[in-house]
Amino acid sequence: MSQLIDGKAFAENLRKTIASQVVDIEKEHHIRPGLAVVLVGEDPASQVYVRNKEKFAIECGFKSETFRLPATTSQAELLELIQTLNNDATIHGILVQLPLPKGLNEEEVLYAIDPQKDVDGFHPINIGLLSIGKPSLIPCTPLGSLLLLQDKLGKDLSGKHAVIVGRSNIVGKPMMQLLLSQNCTVTVAHSRTKDVASLCREADIVIAAVGVPELVKGDWIKKGATVIDVGINRIEVDGKTKLVGDVEFATAKENAEFITPVPGGVGPMTIACLLRNTLTAMCQQHKIVDPNKL
Ligand code: GUN
Repeated sequence: MSQLIDGKAFAENLRKTIASQVVDIEKEHHIRPGLAVVLVGEDPASQVYVRNKEKFAIECGFKSETFRLPATTSQAELLELIQTLNNDATIHGILVQLPLPKGLNEEEVLYAIDPQKDVDGFHPINIGLLSIGKPSLIPCTPLGSLLLLQDKLGKDLSGKHAVIVGRSNIVGKPMMQLLLSQNCTVTVAHSRTKDVASLCREADIVIAAVGVPELVKGDWIKKGATVIDVGINRIEVDGKTKLVGDVEFATAKENAEFITPVPGGVGPMTIACLLRNTLTAMCQQHKIVDPNKL
């Protein structure tokens, strides 16, 4: 029988830990983390994410600033706001909610963020630092997935074979670097991989991050393996919308020892790790010891 990995509870605990660290640091150093979130346009899913980021940042004692800009905002206006935030000493973390409306150059915007304030960990400097084994700000979803893995399997993941299904810049590739840094043997499968099923059957850890509903079948999971499902897909069942992951959960849970549900698995970890990264960014900017080193 498998054990569910309760990401919601883990994220709640992580936020409580962060809130108490914020109190301690404020007492000693008289500063508190500042997070700026920039939302351009009116994408409904993005509005929900941004509201939650704001809510949890405030709950953890952060200074939280949200900039809601119209979809007609120009590239120059957006870049100017980022420069202002880069120069604002009370802001330690900047997040531009993706996707940006059509016509805006996402790459140029993300690369304009000061790498020290890049709490998404998407800037090439932060990706590069992760790749050379000197991680600074790590992308939130891979970081959250690693924390869940370590909670169940212990800190030492040495020698475990991890198969990552998906090679995105946001999840698959940084997850590969993170697991390598933890001495896992890592295989990255993607849409052109010849036999993803056989690769998964060899895995001690399967990370599914492709964005295809239930692509990873239950009989691809080795008995006793750990499954981290990063997918959040909305599908129609009998005229109703249902959230499913990239893993066929009902069958996979028969083989896995530990498995994340969707929803309630990796999802809640992303915002908790954004807050963790903002605290890390503040500590790095002020040369304070980071209480959350990996
Ligand atoms: N949109 C969906 N997920 C994310 C994320 O992790 N960061 C940003 N900036 N935008 C997103």
